Amino acid sequence: MSLRVGVIGGGQLARMMIAPAVELGVELRVLAEDEGMAASLAATAVGDYRDAAAVLAFAHDVDVVTFDHEHVPQPVLRALVDAGVAVHPGPDALQFAQDKIAMRTRLAELGAPQPDWAAVTGTDQLQEFLDAHGGRAVVKTPRGGYDGKGVRVVSRAEEAVDWFTALAEDANGGALLVEELVDFTRELAQQVARRPSGEVRAYPVVETVQRGGVCAEVIAPAPHASERLVEVAARIGVGIAEGLGVTGMLAVELFETTDDRLLVNELAMRPHNSGHWSQDGAVTGQFEQHLRAVLDLPLGDPAALAPWSVMVNILGGPTRGSLSERFAGAMAEHPEAKIHTYGKQPRPGRKVGHVNTVGDDLDDVTYQARAAAAHFDG
Ligand SMILES: Nc1ncnc2c1ncn2[C@@H]1O[C@H](COP(=O)(O)OP(=O)(O)O)[C@@H](O)[C@H]1O
Ligand SMILES: [Mg+2]
Repeated sequence: MSLRVGVIGGGQLARMMIAPAVELGVELRVLAEDEGMAASLAATAVGDYRDAAAVLAFAHDVDVVTFDHEHVPQPVLRALVDAGVAVHPGPDALQFAQDKIAMRTRLAELGAPQPDWAAVTGTDQLQEFLDAHGGRAVVKTPRGGYDGKGVRVVSRAEEAVDWFTALAEDANGGALLVEELVDFTRELAQQVARRPSGEVRAYPVVETVQRGGVCAEVIAPAPHASERLVEVAARIGVGIAEGLGVTGMLAVELFETTDDRLLVNELAMRPHNSGHWSQDGAVTGQFEQHLRAVLDLPLGDPAALAPWSVMVNILGGPTRGSLSERFAGAMAEHPEAKIHTYGKQPRPGRKVGHVNTVGDDLDDVTYQARAAAAHFDG
């Protein structure tokens, strides 16, 4: 009988586990939020991931449960564990990807380098932090943010009043996370895979480019990275994976500061946009690696296949027609580009696909990925 992985959440990350699952002969089942989601190509059940009974029913005949997103509530995760279901990453690790205040608190205990931060419950505390940090700071909602939603640069405490009000009932007692506004030269991401039995593998550290808080491009490996930077990033990633007991793929978003430090921005415990390049640019892509890791199988080699890989997101997609109507043009002009689409309706700002390219010349690889992705705009 084949191994069965149950994925909670039917988005593009679950979808992109399907091809490696087919290749490995692993049966992938998905608990999707709705009919017709990105991952509906897999055997899909529809149900509410906040409903313990629905999740337990979904999980009862799989070998392991894993995730497309981090929003499954802790009580539901605990119910799975109590019922004897293997859950990877487990609730004890996942809590630190679900709540940015919990993450900052735990990373401080682990001694991981991070921006100055505080949990603030009102405008007075926020103003105090602002006054101590040059009058500007980044305020974040601790839970539920993504793609820059839930992140705001403020220079006056009043600019966060609406969030304090909305969060009054939150598990953190209404606290918001405030961080120093980091003076960074660029953003990096370090991915690590870790098995329940302890084996860890670090991917090459990559550069990520965000536009409007959304990942736009990724370059693998990060250009102009000294040996020391590569080593420090991997050490931070492995330290966090082991320190938090993460199983499956971990992504550590990092800032490289103007004074040459690496600071942890945030964590994701699942395949991550910063690792999409690995589908075509690494010996073992992150989606295959995630399946291997959560099944506690030996991990694959994360090494790059070529000197450079570039990933460009298709954001929004065509304003007229579907993505597939643009295939012929993009494919004819860019036969070297690997086009990945998510089966999602185009909508402004939405991640609907990405393009990967690999090769020896970074300028050329970057140009080809951007030009191929541009076929899907407008
Ligand atoms: N402390 C900070 N200083 C400077 N920029 C920041 C800081 N925190 C976040 N950002 C910017 O905002 C983006 C989104 O923040 P992040 O915490 O990663 O939220 P999300 O969960 O939406 O990805 C980051 O990729 C970075 O560009
Ligand atoms: Mg982020």
